[in-house]
Amino acid sequence: MSVCAVKAITVTSMCGIIGYVGPRVAHAVVVEGLRRMEYRGYDSAGAAVITPDGISVRKKAGKIGNLDALLASDPLPETGIGIGHTRWATHGGPTDTNAHPHVSADGRIALIHNGIIENFATLRAELRAKGVEFSSETDTEVAAQLLGDVVAGGADLADAMRAVCLRLEGAFTLVAMDATDPGRLVAARRNSPLVVGVGEGETFVASDVAAFIEFTRHAIELGQDQVVDVTATSITVTDFFGNPAESHPFEVTWDLSAAEKAGFDWFMRKEIFEQPRAVADTLLGRFTPEGALTLDELRIPEAELRSVDKIIIVACGTAYYAGMVAKYAIEHWTRIACEVEIASEFRYRDPIISGSTLVVTISQSGETADTLMAIRHAREQKAKVIAICNTNGATIPRESDAVIYTHAGPEIGVASTKGFLTQVAACYLLGLYLAQVRGTMYGDEIAAVMSELASTPDKIQQVLESLDQITDLAARFIDTKSVLFLGRHVGYPVALEGALKLKELAYLHAEGFPAGELKHGPIALVEEGTPIFVVVPPQGRDQLHDKVVSNIQEVRARGALTIVLAEEGDDEVTPYADILFRLPKVSTLLQPLVATVPLQMFACDLATLKGFDVDQPRNLAKSVTVE
Ligand code: G6P
Repeated sequence: MSVCAVKAITVTSMCGIIGYVGPRVAHAVVVEGLRRMEYRGYDSAGAAVITPDGISVRKKAGKIGNLDALLASDPLPETGIGIGHTRWATHGGPTDTNAHPHVSADGRIALIHNGIIENFATLRAELRAKGVEFSSETDTEVAAQLLGDVVAGGADLADAMRAVCLRLEGAFTLVAMDATDPGRLVAARRNSPLVVGVGEGETFVASDVAAFIEFTRHAIELGQDQVVDVTATSITVTDFFGNPAESHPFEVTWDLSAAEKAGFDWFMRKEIFEQPRAVADTLLGRFTPEGALTLDELRIPEAELRSVDKIIIVACGTAYYAGMVAKYAIEHWTRIACEVEIASEFRYRDPIISGSTLVVTISQSGETADTLMAIRHAREQKAKVIAICNTNGATIPRESDAVIYTHAGPEIGVASTKGFLTQVAACYLLGLYLAQVRGTMYGDEIAAVMSELASTPDKIQQVLESLDQITDLAARFIDTKSVLFLGRHVGYPVALEGALKLKELAYLHAEGFPAGELKHGPIALVEEGTPIFVVVPPQGRDQLHDKVVSNIQEVRARGALTIVLAEEGDDEVTPYADILFRLPKVSTLLQPLVATVPLQMFACDLATLKGFDVDQPRNLAKSVTVE
């Protein structure tokens, strides 16, 4: 199977791909671009350039550091054209041979690939019968050999790419170059992203604008089933049949500094500190001068939103927990029943969906395969789909009826942080918008929530300024084997997110529970000294607060060491907190926006102390495009 292969799905984008043509040293541009896309996969990395003697390739299993070391001892020649690839393995081991680029048997074509070629076995048999020898077991090499074969028959590279695409089944984004045509790259896109960077006298193709943001902010997003033929000064886009095709030019709104660590040890830590700005940007400009709430690209008529009788939020990982938080607010504000479901479960359980169901999908990357499959299924059942997404033009927003963009800027750390907070904020905007359209809240009530939301960036900032306490705490728990997290109401998904962060980054056993559920089983886990984080709701909301205080006492009575997150001035919890972290005062529904931050930092600090790679935790990838 291919290095990025996935069976039975029609989209993959777990790898990062880049191509460059222009006056710079191509392999330097390519390797730098790979570094900025390493979050997409870090099982192997490789680069190829065209020299007067043909194609030259360097590739190595493992992180880009391994490729750097190889290039240091065996440099690539300086040329103006090159391609590169960083991989997240799904099928087949992460070996040097399986790494991309792959080269055709005659050495003329080099190719990188992101996806699966489902009919690769048939094509490989066909090529073998013609005498083509394969040097790897990947499906990608089939595309390289097939392209090599068509080009050897006399076809022009772009014509050959189109002919190859018509023969491939499955999902694929390809970039290829021809040793005999050293000023030109040809790329094809089906499903996974491909953007063109338009520089002055230089052109880039990449999975993500981060790869070339240092050189240009002018970009073109390719559509489905398109082929792009680029030189340093020209860009021609066609469909797979050679007809001229429309593509979508756009300006990248952020700059290189957003894709760099800016003095932080980790992207994740930088992204934690960016949260006040990210939330503020997500909320920005949502009110018209007349005081009405507006959303981006909402192509669903208000009448249809008024007839919605059920909302299903579908997402994965951290985005799923953002959806769990949102459920409380959306049901409260709109009085529409709202379910939240993990995308991979939703798709295969035959969910009850109709034309009056509104499906809300949440995805930072906009490429998560489980979520995408859920969207396709929901739309087949005639449901309307609204995507909450951080990536302009990604597949999920493209396939949805409407989009609310979170303006978090690029999130590079694999574990989501600012993604989560902005997703919660965007879900709240959606909830308030539905309440406005359906008349379930008065305008002044909506304005009051919006005004409190607008004050949360300052409150998050306040939390960030008190995080030293968390760093000290992490040092104390360096040998801990298991940590529990408790919360009620919106504090419950916060507890789950706190536990997920610890699993992802510190490779620790961690569980989040509804505080009231503990006594029904999980309390048996509590031993002398078990650390338990407890998110305490603001005081004075029904009995929530008091119930959680009782739950703290229950675990403390059994020897737990309690780390309590409670709002300023809450003295009732003080006697039961072994460690007390103060949160700024906010209303109950907004508490996740402040309470999650110390938990993110705890995981980041603990993983750092343990010497783990916080930005690239083992076995994970940022954008998971396998089901
Ligand atoms: C991966 C990442 C998580 C993320 C999840 C959903 O598992 O490691 O951090 O929460 O995917 O990603 P999405 O891009 O759809 O929000």
